[in-house]
Amino acid sequence: MARSDDFRDVVAHKRDGEELTADALRSFVLGFARGEVDDPLAAAFLMAAYLRGLSPAETGEMPGAVIAPGRGLPLGGVSRPKVDKHSTGGVADGVTLVFAPLAASMGLAVAKLSGRGLGHTGGTLDKLEAIPGFRTALSPDELERQVDRIGCAVAGQTADLVPADGALYALRDATATVASTPLIAASIMAKKLAVGTDLILLDVKAGGGAFMKTPEAATELAGACTALARAWNRPCRAAVTDMSQPLGTAVGNALDVAEAIRVLRGEGGGRLRDLAVLFAAEALTTLAGRTSDEAGAEAERALSDGRAAEAFARMIEAQGGDPHVVEDPDGILPAAPVRKDVLAQASGYLESVDAEAVGRTAMALGAGRVKKGDSVDPAVGLEFFPKVGDSVTAGDVVGRVHARDDASATRAETLLRSAASWTAQAVDPPPLVHGWVGGATP
Ligand code: URA
Repeated sequence: MARSDDFRDVVAHKRDGEELTADALRSFVLGFARGEVDDPLAAAFLMAAYLRGLSPAETGEMPGAVIAPGRGLPLGGVSRPKVDKHSTGGVADGVTLVFAPLAASMGLAVAKLSGRGLGHTGGTLDKLEAIPGFRTALSPDELERQVDRIGCAVAGQTADLVPADGALYALRDATATVASTPLIAASIMAKKLAVGTDLILLDVKAGGGAFMKTPEAATELAGACTALARAWNRPCRAAVTDMSQPLGTAVGNALDVAEAIRVLRGEGGGRLRDLAVLFAAEALTTLAGRTSDEAGAEAERALSDGRAAEAFARMIEAQGGDPHVVEDPDGILPAAPVRKDVLAQASGYLESVDAEAVGRTAMALGAGRVKKGDSVDPAVGLEFFPKVGDSVTAGDVVGRVHARDDASATRAETLLRSAASWTAQAVDPPPLVHGWVGGATP
C-alpha cells in the first residue's frame, strides 16, 4: 500500500474504532517516516489513536514500524553486560546522570539514547549540554566504540536510529496526543528495542509531576512496556516510582548536573541517590548474578570511593566536555547572574509540593522549552530542598531561584511558594517505589 487514499483509509478506520491490520499500521508509519504521509494526516491518525486507543496487537506492531525506517544498534562489539535505563519523565529527575557512570564503574555497559526536555519535564541531553563542550550527537558507531571503551555513553536519536520516533513525538507534542498509554509505550520501547542491550530497566513515574498521574495509570504503562519487551524476547523490568514531588532538589540544566556530581562524589544523599543505587543494584543483580544486598553495597561503595565520579569524568571527556567539571562544578558550569534564597515563612512540616508547578516555574525561568526547537538557558532554574514530611523552622532556606534578572527571580519565588503547602501536623513521606512490573527473563 502506498497511495494517499489508502493512507486516508487507515485514519478513517482508526477514527471509526476498527482494529488496523499489521500491514496497514506498518505502511502508514513507514509512509510518515518517508514523507509520503503529511503532518495533517499523521496528526489525525494520532488523535484517532489517542481517542480510540490501540489494541494490544496494534500496540505490538508499533515499535517495529517505528524502528524499521532506521537501523538498529546491536552493540555486538561491546563485551561487558549491557543495560539500558529509561525514565518516562519527571522533575529534578537526574537519575540517568548518576546511573550511567555508576553502572559503568561497576563493570556494566550503558548505551543510552536520551531525549530533550518536554513541557515541564527535564531532558538528559539538555542537562549534559550545560557542560561546556559536551557533544550529544554521536553516530551509532561512535556510541558503540565509546561504550566498549569506557562503559557508558549518552546520546540523542540520530537520523539512523529510530528516526520516526523523533518526528512522531514532535507531532504528538504539537497536537496534545502525548499522554496516551499505547503511544508512550510504543515510543519508549522503540528506542529501547532498537539497541541490543541485555536488560532494559524502566523508571515509570507516577504523580503530579509525571505524564501518568496515579500509580495505577503508571502500572498500566509499565505493563504495556514490559509486554512489548516480552513480545521481542527481551528482559525488561519496570519500577513504578514516586513523582508526586520533585525527585532531587535541583530543577534546571547546570543545576541538575551539579546535583548529580555531588551524588557521584558520594556527597549528596536523598531520593535521587536512593533511586540511582536501586537501579544500579537491580542491573548488577540481574546481569552479574549478585544478591541484591551485595549489589546495593557495591553501588554504595562505587559512589563513596570515587569510582563513579571518575567514570562520569571519562564519559564527559570522551564526548568533548571538560572533565574537570567533576572536581570543580561551581567553577566550570554556567551560573545565573541572580540568586535569590526562598525562606520558610513559618515553622512546620512540608505537606505537598506540586512537582508540575515546580517544573513549570523552572521552564518560565528559561530552563525548559515552550515548543520544540526553542533553546534552553543552561544556567537558570531553581532548587527546593525539603521533601514531603520534612520539618522546617521559620527563616530556614527552603529554596533558591537562579535567574537572569530580578523580575523573573521574584516571579519564580512567588510561583515556588504557591507550589508548596505546609502544615503543623507531622506528615508521612510517600514511598519512593510503588512496585515492580516484569521479570528479569523475557
Ligand atoms: N518518553 C518517551 O520517550 N516517549 C513518550 O512518548 C513519552 C515519554
